Amino acid sequence: MTEPLANCRIALGVTGSIAAYKALTVASRLTQAGALVDVLMTRSAQELVRPMAFQALTHRPVVTDLWQPTTPLAIDHVAIARAIDALVVAPATADVIARLALGRADDALTTTALATRAPLLVAPAMEPRMWSHEATQHNVATLRSRGVVFVGPELGRMASGEAGVGRMTEPPDLLEHLRLLLVARRGGPLRGRRVVITAGPTFEAIDPVRFVSNHSSGRMGLALARVARDRAAEVTLIVGPTALPTPAGVREVRVESALDMRAAVMAEAPGADALIMTAAVADYRPATRHPHKIKKSDGDQTLRMVRNPDILCDLDRALADAGRRPVRVAFAAETENLVTNAQAKLVAKGVDLVVANPVPEAFGSDTVSAVLVDRQAATALGPLRKDQLAESVLERVAELIGARDLASAAAVARP
Ligand code: CTP
Repeated sequence: MTEPLANCRIALGVTGSIAAYKALTVASRLTQAGALVDVLMTRSAQELVRPMAFQALTHRPVVTDLWQPTTPLAIDHVAIARAIDALVVAPATADVIARLALGRADDALTTTALATRAPLLVAPAMEPRMWSHEATQHNVATLRSRGVVFVGPELGRMASGEAGVGRMTEPPDLLEHLRLLLVARRGGPLRGRRVVITAGPTFEAIDPVRFVSNHSSGRMGLALARVARDRAAEVTLIVGPTALPTPAGVREVRVESALDMRAAVMAEAPGADALIMTAAVADYRPATRHPHKIKKSDGDQTLRMVRNPDILCDLDRALADAGRRPVRVAFAAETENLVTNAQAKLVAKGVDLVVANPVPEAFGSDTVSAVLVDRQAATALGPLRKDQLAESVLERVAELIGARDLASAAAVARP
C-alpha cells in the first residue's frame, strides 16, 4: 500500500490554542495511518487538553516538560529529534512561531525543533489580528526562508466569534500536506514520472442554465491522483465539474465540456509517461448551444445531439509518429459483456490497458469491482475500495512504463 505515513516517526508539537482539540484528530489519524507518533505539549496546551488523551490515542508517552524524570515511560526528546521523519506543530500559536523564528530552546518542543534536521510543518491557529500582525508575518517569513512549510491558517469563524484568517487547517488536509512533504524527501516508485489523469463528468451545455451530463463523481480519478502523488509522480489532473477537491500537490486543469477536455488532453498527454482516462466523457453534445435560456412552449421539445470526438482515438492518431508514447489507460463502465467489450475498446482506442467496471456499481460508490484487461490477460479484482483499485492500476501502469522504456531502449540500440 502507498501510505507515505506508514512506519514513519512523526513528532507532533501541540501548543496553547483552542484548536488544540484538533490535534487529537491529527494524532489519531497519524497513528491509524501507521505512523509512530511522539506528542510534545507546551505548558499552555496542557491547560486545554490533557496529555492522557494523546497518550491514549498514540499508545505512547507524551513529552510535557524538559525536566521529566527518567521513568520507564519517559522519552528523551533529543532522541526524538534524531529519529523523526518530520516535526508537525499543530496548532501553532503566535508565541511558538516567534520562539521557533528566534531559535529559542525554552521547552521540550522548541528544543526538539532546534535539535532536529527533519522537515518542519507548521499549522498556525490564532486570532486574525495576531496572524496579520507585522511581527508574526516577519517570523513566518524568517521560518519560510529556512524551509519551514506553513499550512494555513484558513479563513473562517474563530472561537472568539470574529471571522478572518486564523483557523487551523482541518486535520485531513494537514495530513495531505505532510504526505506531500515526506514523498518529496523520500521519493517513490514513480519518481520523475509525469502522469496525466482525467476525472469526473463533462457538462454539455444546452443553454446558459441547462446541460447534459452523467453520474460520474470523479472519485476514481481523484484516488488515482492521490496514489500517483504518493508514489512521487508529477501528477496533472484534468477534471470536469465535480465538487471534490483536488489532492494537495496535484496540478489541476479544470474543464467543462468534452471539447475542453480533448484540448486539455492534447496539450498535456504528449511527453507524459502515462495518461489515465477515468473521465466519463459525454459521447454526444447538443447540436446548438443556445446563447439565451430556452423558454418553454406548449409542445414537446426535441434535442438534437451531435457526436463528440473520441479523445483517446484522436490522441492515438496524434501520437502515431511520436517516439515515446505515454502508456494509455481507458476506463470502461459496462452493463454487460464486461471483458469482451473491454477487449474491443483496447483495440479501438489503441490503449495499453482497459479497466472495466460493471455499472451501476462504478458510479458514486466507494467500492468497485474491476477487470484489468490488457493484450495478454484479463485480471478480475475486487470488490475493493477505489483507493485500493488505484493502487493496483498504478502498479500495472508502472510495469507498462518500464516495458515501454525497455522497448524504446532496444529500438535505439538496434542498428
Ligand atoms: N473516452 C474518450 N473520449 C470520448 C469518450 C470516452 O476518450 N469521447 C474515454 C473515456 O475516458 C474512457 C474510455 O474512453 O477511458 C471508455 O469510455 P466509454 O464511454 O466506456 O466508451 P465508449 O467508447 O464511449 O463506448 P460506449 O459508450 O459505446 O460503451
